[in-house]
Amino acid sequence: MPNFSASIHSKLPKVGNTIFSTMSSLARKENAINLSQGFPDFNCSPELIELVHQAMKAGHNQYAPMAGLIELREKIAEKTNFLYSGDYDPESEITITAGATQAIFTAIAATVNEGDEVIIFTPAYDCYEPAIELVGGKPVYVQLSENEYRVNWEEVKKVINQRTKMIIINTPHNPTGSILSGQDLQKLDKLISNSDILVLSDEVYEHILFDGYEHQSVARFPSLANRSFIISSFGKTYHTTGWKMGYCLAPKQLMKEFRKTHQYNVFSVNTPIQVAMASYLEKKEAYLELGAFYQYKRDRFRENLKGSRFTLKPTAGSYFQLLGYENISEESDLTFAQRLTIEKKVASIPTSVFYNRPIDHKVLRFCFAKSDETLDRAAEILQTI
Ligand SMILES: Cc1ncc(COP(=O)(O)O)c(C=O)c1O
Repeated sequence: MPNFSASIHSKLPKVGNTIFSTMSSLARKENAINLSQGFPDFNCSPELIELVHQAMKAGHNQYAPMAGLIELREKIAEKTNFLYSGDYDPESEITITAGATQAIFTAIAATVNEGDEVIIFTPAYDCYEPAIELVGGKPVYVQLSENEYRVNWEEVKKVINQRTKMIIINTPHNPTGSILSGQDLQKLDKLISNSDILVLSDEVYEHILFDGYEHQSVARFPSLANRSFIISSFGKTYHTTGWKMGYCLAPKQLMKEFRKTHQYNVFSVNTPIQVAMASYLEKKEAYLELGAFYQYKRDRFRENLKGSRFTLKPTAGSYFQLLGYENISEESDLTFAQRLTIEKKVASIPTSVFYNRPIDHKVLRFCFAKSDETLDRAAEILQTI
C-alpha cells in the first residue's frame, strides 16, 4: 500500500468533516429533530417536478451550452431587471452553475492570485475561506458587531491595502439572519470606488426577507455591480437544495474570466432542470411569496419559544434563528449543541464554527425551513430546558 503522508501536503490542513455533516449524522444516530443543516424538510412544487420530468421525456438530456441554456439566462436577466433594475446581458454576463457553492469557488479561483487578500466577515458561511486558501489567497477577517451582526465599515477601511483583491458580502446572512441596508452598500461602494477591488455578493437568500424589508442586491447599485460577482441559488428559492443549481451575474470582463474556470471545472450543468427552471421562473409568485412563507415559520417558531430560557436574536432574513443559551449553561456551544442533540433530541449548529478564532458567544443556529409540525415539536422540547 502506498503511503501518501509524506508526498501529499494537504492544501487544506485545517479542514476535517464539516460541522453540518457532524451534527446531521449525530441527529440521525440519536433520532433527533434536525434543525442543524440548512435545507427544507418539505417537498418542492409538484409542478416543478413535472416540468423536469417533461424536459427529460422531451429529450433534453445531453450537455447544455457551457454558460447555460440561453432561455434560462434570458429569464434571469428579465427577473434581475424587474426586481433590482439591474442590466445583465444574457449572452455575456450570466452563467448557470451547479449551485451557489460552485459559483463562489469559481469566482474566487478565476480572480484571486497567490498572496491576494480577500476580506470576509465573521461569523462567515463556511465555503469562502477554503476556496481562498486553495488558490493561495489570504483570508482577512472582519468581525460583525456582537449583538446585531452589522458591518463596521471603519474596520473594513483599516484592513484594506494594496494586496486587497476582493471583499465577500452575504445578505441575508448565514448564520445570523442579519441583512445589509442600502446605506451599507453605498458605504462599501464609496470605500472601494478608487480601487480595483472586486466584490463577491452571496445573495442566495435574496427572496427570504421579513417585516417589509427589501433585499438590497448589489444589482441595484450600478457602480458596485460593475465590479461584482452576484451569486444566487435556485436550491434556496425553490426548496430544491439537492438539485444544486444556481447562477452568477457579473459584468462582461469579469464573466469572461469566470467562464474560463467554469468550463474546466464543470463545463455545464444539468440540462432538464435548466429547461424546467426557464419556464418556472415565469411564475413570479413562487419567489415573491417566499418571504411571507418563511416569515410565518419564523414567527411561529419564535412565538412557541416565548417564555423559554433561550434568548431570541432578531432575524430579518434567511431561514435561520439564533438562540442564546447564556441563561442555561456555561458549556461551550459545541458541547451544549451535542448534549442538546443526545439528551433532548434537537440538533442545531454551534455558531463558534463560523469564526476563524475561538469565539463562543453561547449562541446556537436553528434552521426553520421545516414543517410546522417539526418546528412545534422542537419548540416544545426547547421550552422544557
Ligand atoms: C450563504 C450561503 N451561500 C451559499 C450556499 C450554497 O448554496 P448551494 O446549495 O446552491 O450551493 C449556502 C447554502 O447553505 C449558503 O447558506
